[in-house]
Amino acid sequence: MRNDYTAQTESALYGFLPDDNCRESVLIEAMRYSLEAGGKRVRPALVLRFCELCGGDTEKALPFACAVEMIHTYSLIHDDLPCMDDDDLRRGKPSNHKVFGEDIALLAGDSLLTLAFGTIASDSTAELVGDRACRRAAAVLANYAGATGMVGGQVIDLKSENTNAPIEVLREMDYKKTACLIKAACELGCIAAGADDSQIKAASLYGESIGIAFQIQDDILDCTSSNEELGKPVGSDAENSKSTYASLLGIEECRRLVNELTAQAEAALDSFEGDTSALKSFARELANRKK
Ligand code: IPE
Ligand code: IPE
Ligand code: MG
Ligand code: MG
Ligand code: MG
Repeated sequence: MRNDYTAQTESALYGFLPDDNCRESVLIEAMRYSLEAGGKRVRPALVLRFCELCGGDTEKALPFACAVEMIHTYSLIHDDLPCMDDDDLRRGKPSNHKVFGEDIALLAGDSLLTLAFGTIASDSTAELVGDRACRRAAAVLANYAGATGMVGGQVIDLKSENTNAPIEVLREMDYKKTACLIKAACELGCIAAGADDSQIKAASLYGESIGIAFQIQDDILDCTSSNEELGKPVGSDAENSKSTYASLLGIEECRRLVNELTAQAEAALDSFEGDTSALKSFARELANRKK
């Protein structure tokens, strides 16, 4: 899944980290550890791809792309903590708290979240995309990443353990905990390019469909993959008695839903004038991913 967007993102990402020549250098080390551990960089690729589709310069969208990846990485550090999913492996390496301890892992997550908003609001980002785009990006990201989005979804996830939650709860959970940040990425790419509201709306619809499909695929892989291939512990959902699409509907029905949502995502792109073939094949690539 590595592509040019991955390299472009990683060339900028680590440069946003604070100087580690300080008393609290272990914090910066912990932030760097999880950022550098890799991952598929799906969300920054979406920022850059939508920026390109809307006629923007991807270099200018890089701070937004990195900000979304910082938030995603923080969410994974916290998601793995013993008080949440209690997982010891992430991105093929020991989870942040296994290396740095729960206290520093918690704080590394906090600092990545804060750094994301600092990156969006910085003077250098404003020089690239303008004040209005920065303000709008911060508002969009706050809405999708916070209590009304990803964090809210994580709460539904935790509260649904041991409950056999019904489909409408699972839908809202997956929408919030996973699709919201993916929607944010799609919207931010458009915003960086100065796109109009109808383009942002279409990008958002695409993000919503691939986002829910992405979580269903994640749940499938938790049942069907291996630790080595996935880089995180399989069987984690069953061990935590999570309510997932896979536990409620079974793998075959989940695969059907992933394909259906992917087709919906592709259809959402039809209102764009530019060439959407790369984003369409990206949606299919995500639907068929093995990790
Ligand atoms: C994992 O996201 C968490 C979910 C929302 C399912 P990714 O599968 O994008 O994780 P990385 O970034 O590649 O590690
Ligand atoms: C997590 O969902 C979604 C987040 C917002 C982090 P999971 O708990 O299924 O993610 P993984 O499988 O640990 O990556
Ligand atoms: Mg979780
Ligand atoms: Mg988890
Ligand atoms: Mg999972």
